Amino acid sequence: MSTKTPGLNDAYSLKSPEDSRRLYAEWAGDYDESFAAREDYQLHIHTARAFVAAGGQGPVLDVGAGTGLCGAVLCDLGVGPIDATDISGEMLTQAMRKDIYRDAIEADINEGIPVRRDSYSGIVSSGTFTHGHVGPEPIDELLRIARHGAQFALSINSDFFREAGFADKFRQLERDHRITNLKLHEVRIYGDLASGPNKDDTAYIALFEKA
Ligand SMILES: C[S@@+](CC[C@H](N)C(=O)[O-])C[C@H]1O[C@@H](n2cnc3c(N)ncnc32)[C@H](O)[C@@H]1O
Repeated sequence: MSTKTPGLNDAYSLKSPEDSRRLYAEWAGDYDESFAAREDYQLHIHTARAFVAAGGQGPVLDVGAGTGLCGAVLCDLGVGPIDATDISGEMLTQAMRKDIYRDAIEADINEGIPVRRDSYSGIVSSGTFTHGHVGPEPIDELLRIARHGAQFALSINSDFFREAGFADKFRQLERDHRITNLKLHEVRIYGDLASGPNKDDTAYIALFEKA
């Protein structure tokens, strides 16, 4: 393990799921303090609030749940039960310590999530559809495990949205009548206390329902 605390540059430079496993194993222990608190991270709050405002209900799957920041906000807003899935066992260990989640599912979303189809009434994800992490392809897998009418609230880094072809993906899903009521809200990822080159970065919260 290196002595330097990982940060956003390391996260955005990841090239493979194996890189993610390695980085987040190292970061898990102080992600909440060294990253979320220091950078005034807000995306999990926007995502959870948007989910609830759209009428989202449990059971919910938090995708790329990390240390459980989004789940904690959902829980405060009265949503449950919530399951967590993540590629990093170490991040999930931190999430389960918060005593919010019903179940932790360690999985690479690109390879599939080992749960039955139609399992969830809601799917949320904050900070996982971004540079170096997860592209649009696994949305198909999320639709498989979501029930008819399930509410989705997925944050997608705005620059990555354009680079990785999310608009095409959503257009195709709408054309195929697999999703309805797509809305994109742009929000700031960090609050006023953030500093550094990414402090003004934005993300879309993609709200839609499984048709
Ligand atoms: C920036 S963190 C966000 C964590 C949390 N949702 C939040 O808002 O603080 C991104 C998370 O995505 C997870 N991740 C990255 N690639 C993944 C993959 N292929 N499958 C599942 N999770 C993945 C990482 O392990 C990490 O916990």
